[in-house]
Amino acid sequence: MERRSFLRTCALAGSAVAFASRESVWADAAPRYYAKTRLVDIHGNSIRIGALAEDTNFVFHYPYASTPCFLLKLGRSVAAANDLRREDGATYAWQGGVGPGRNLVAFSAICAHKLAYPTRDVSFIRFQKDRSPTSTGNVIHCCADHSIYDPAAGARVVAGPAPQPLAAIVLAHDPARDELYALGTIGPEQFDAFFVKYDVRLSLEYGSNRGRTLVTETAVVRELENYCKTTIRC
Ligand code: FES
Repeated sequence: MERRSFLRTCALAGSAVAFASRESVWADAAPRYYAKTRLVDIHGNSIRIGALAEDTNFVFHYPYASTPCFLLKLGRSVAAANDLRREDGATYAWQGGVGPGRNLVAFSAICAHKLAYPTRDVSFIRFQKDRSPTSTGNVIHCCADHSIYDPAAGARVVAGPAPQPLAAIVLAHDPARDELYALGTIGPEQFDAFFVKYDVRLSLEYGSNRGRTLVTETAVVRELENYCKTTIRC
């Protein structure tokens, strides 16, 4: 293997191993690794951290072709957390923000209450920077039933009926290339329930495999407003 490529691979693998080993000390639920997927723009070019707007909703699909995630560049660095808890009681650790500012985070955009998610037509769930009559701001807020999650704390539940956090996406940043990768998930995946609940809709949108194709090499990142016609605010 070419030396620089080898060093890059070691760096990314090292960060994942370091996260996994911290997790094994702190918590009893392990990350679930899928394909190492590079996040790209609509032209196939790697997402550059410096070009991402802060406090803006970006969407990509991972680990399946139909399962949306939020990518957020928060306005401040965020530390790891080791005390998140799934509905079944299992605890898990979250890596915190990645990148030079330690402020890039990603979470499944499937609400942990009744699985509302961003479609091409409408999204009830999104990051909300500003205060509103129904929330404090700087939260992921699902306007369907007002579940509120803190993206600076592993998307733990701040308020509302959601019984558990949003699943976090394990990210890695390659500083030499300024490339961002999704590696897997940590926390309460809800993909099986998502596929069952939206079976008909997914079959119309994705055909017979219903969007269950695993994402592999790249995933396209778009601003939510460019992906979805209507974003509900509350
Ligand atoms: S589906 Fe999100 S709060 Fe109910």
